[in-house]
Amino acid sequence: MTIESGTWSVEDTDIIARAVIEAPSVHDAQPWNLLLPAHAAELEERSAFSTFVDPGAFTDPGTDTLRPDRFISCGTAVANLELAIRVLGRNTHTVLFPDPDRPSLIARVESRGASVPTSSDLRLYAAISHRHSHRDAFADIPVPAECLGDIVAAGTRVPGVDIRLLASDEAPALADMLTYSAEIRRRNPHYQRELFSWTSHWQPQGNTEIVTTWSATLDDHGAAGKALITTGIPDTSALADAIDRESVLLFSAESDDPVELVRIGMATERAWLAAVDARLSASVLTHPLRIGDSAQRLAARLGMPVAPQLIMRIGY
Ligand SMILES: Cc1cc2nc3c(=O)[nH]c(=O)nc-3n(C[C@H](O)[C@H](O)[C@H](O)COP(=O)(O)O)c2cc1C
Repeated sequence: MTIESGTWSVEDTDIIARAVIEAPSVHDAQPWNLLLPAHAAELEERSAFSTFVDPGAFTDPGTDTLRPDRFISCGTAVANLELAIRVLGRNTHTVLFPDPDRPSLIARVESRGASVPTSSDLRLYAAISHRHSHRDAFADIPVPAECLGDIVAAGTRVPGVDIRLLASDEAPALADMLTYSAEIRRRNPHYQRELFSWTSHWQPQGNTEIVTTWSATLDDHGAAGKALITTGIPDTSALADAIDRESVLLFSAESDDPVELVRIGMATERAWLAAVDARLSASVLTHPLRIGDSAQRLAARLGMPVAPQLIMRIGY
């Protein structure tokens, strides 16, 4: 973190830095740097991550498949940054990618004069330290429609982001997509833990499977001939039933340009904090959407004009 004297006191710096550190990020990597120049707070993409290549991504060599998730992660930090500065009693004005000469500069949040924080800012800010990923089944209690409406409204305050509530008859489409991507990944030994982490969101009891049927045609990346204890692919209709018992939101924007992905991150964090404020829990998933054409397939099944970038589960 870089701080210029003048605008920010030590206490201000502490509040702002804590809010940013508590933002959710892909693999908890916190892929940003916080700078506090005079009259503004800046969030830079941490370039140390940009050379990471996902070994099981099945894309062109050198493709940085985690990049969309890093932009979304930076967006969640921008949302917390705005809330922290407003709770300090200042107006904010946020510009995304403000300086073409500094392409890694994701956002500049300018502090513009004194203002009383709104009750909504105060509530969302208070939720920051209570938010965490709930990668487990929720209680079998439906989330009231009004509550979901407030959560969606908190997210869509960010312009250009669409948040779609998955309808009951759409649960099979999401279940199909999850099993489709799991099927592609399951025989890659690098991914067994991760596979568990996404199918187990809905089926925490999981199921174990021993794979001994490696062959070159099944898996280009795996160790042919070796047995592997892994998570079994869940039964699609049981998974659809589990999804149907929960509330699921799909986040998308017009394009996958960095600026749109940062906005999706901002909307994600605001919606997540609104859920926490309503005494709900949530978890997010993007990994299954990044495998092959899975996101496009889901969009086609749901008649969405663009592919979803992030899935959020919400429940008690
Ligand atoms: C862009 C993004 C993508 C994420 N994708 C996944 C995912 O696919 N599966 C998962 O279990 N968690 C995912 N997470 C959640 C992070 O792993 C989690 O926020 C982080 O480890 C910090 O933990 P916490 O949310 O409990 O604070 C994602 C988070 C972000 C911001």
